[in-house]
Amino acid sequence: MANDQTAKVAWQPGDVPVAARFDEAYFSRENGLAETRHTFLAGNDLPARLRDGFHVAELGFGTGLNMLALAAAWQEARDSTGQGRARVRFTSFEAWPMSGADIARALAPFDALDALARPFLAAWAQGARRFAIGGLDVEVIIGDVAQTLPAWPDQADAWFLDGFSPAKNPEMWSEALLREVGAHTAPSGSFATFTAAGHVRRALAAAGFAVERRAGYGRKRHMSIGRLTNAR
Ligand SMILES: C[S@@+](CC[C@H](N)C(=O)[O-])C[C@H]1O[C@@H](n2cnc3c(N)ncnc32)[C@H](O)[C@@H]1O
Repeated sequence: MANDQTAKVAWQPGDVPVAARFDEAYFSRENGLAETRHTFLAGNDLPARLRDGFHVAELGFGTGLNMLALAAAWQEARDSTGQGRARVRFTSFEAWPMSGADIARALAPFDALDALARPFLAAWAQGARRFAIGGLDVEVIIGDVAQTLPAWPDQADAWFLDGFSPAKNPEMWSEALLREVGAHTAPSGSFATFTAAGHVRRALAAAGFAVERRAGYGRKRHMSIGRLTNAR
C-alpha cells in the first residue's frame, strides 16, 4: 500500500463524510460527537483517568473528531482539577489521510469544537503530522497499520479502536493486529470500540484484555471495552 494517499470522500446529507474506498461513514449520522463521548471517552473511563504523561492511541484518525473530543474533555478536566501544565499524548494511525478541506467540511457542524479545530486545521494544512491541540500532544502516524503498529516503540494507556466496521475493514480487526494492540498497551491499560463482533472480542481476549460488552450508542445495541490483564 502506498503511503500518504489522500482519502477519497463522498458526502451524505448533513455533511457526513463517507470513505469511498470503504463505502462507510467516518462517524455516526445521528450525532458523531455524542457517539465519540459515549464510546471512546466513557468506554475508557476518560477524562477521569487523564493525568500528566497519559497516552491515548487510536486506530483510524479519519476526521480527527475523536482527537478533538478528547482535547476538549482534557481541557475541561485539566482546568477543573488544577493540572494546568499537565500534558496528555495522543497517537493515531492512519493509512489514507483526509485532505484539510474535507476535514474542515466534516468538522464544521461541531461548533463546540471550533476553537480546538482551528489550530488543528492550520497545522494539518501545512502538512504537520505532529502538533499540539490545547493540552494534547498529537502524532498521526501515516501508513498501513499492519506495518506501522508493530514498528511503534511505544505503549498506550488507552486505545480508541475505530476502524470501519469489521465486515468492510477486516484488516483493522485481525487477530494479528489486535495482538499488536495488546503488546502496545501499558499495564492495566484499556481499549474501547463501537463493535461487539464475536471474533473481535475473542481476538482482544487472546491479546490479554478482560473484555466486557456494554450498551452501545444510539442504534448500536452493544459495544466493547476492556482492561489489560496479561492473562494470555
Ligand atoms: C471510522 S474511520 C475513523 C474515524 C476517526 N476516528 C474520526 O474521529 O473521524 C476509520 C479510519 O481507519 C482508516 N483505516 C482503515 N484501514 C486502515 C489501515 N489498514 N491502516 C491504517 N488506517 C486504516 C481509514 O482510512 C479511516 O480513516
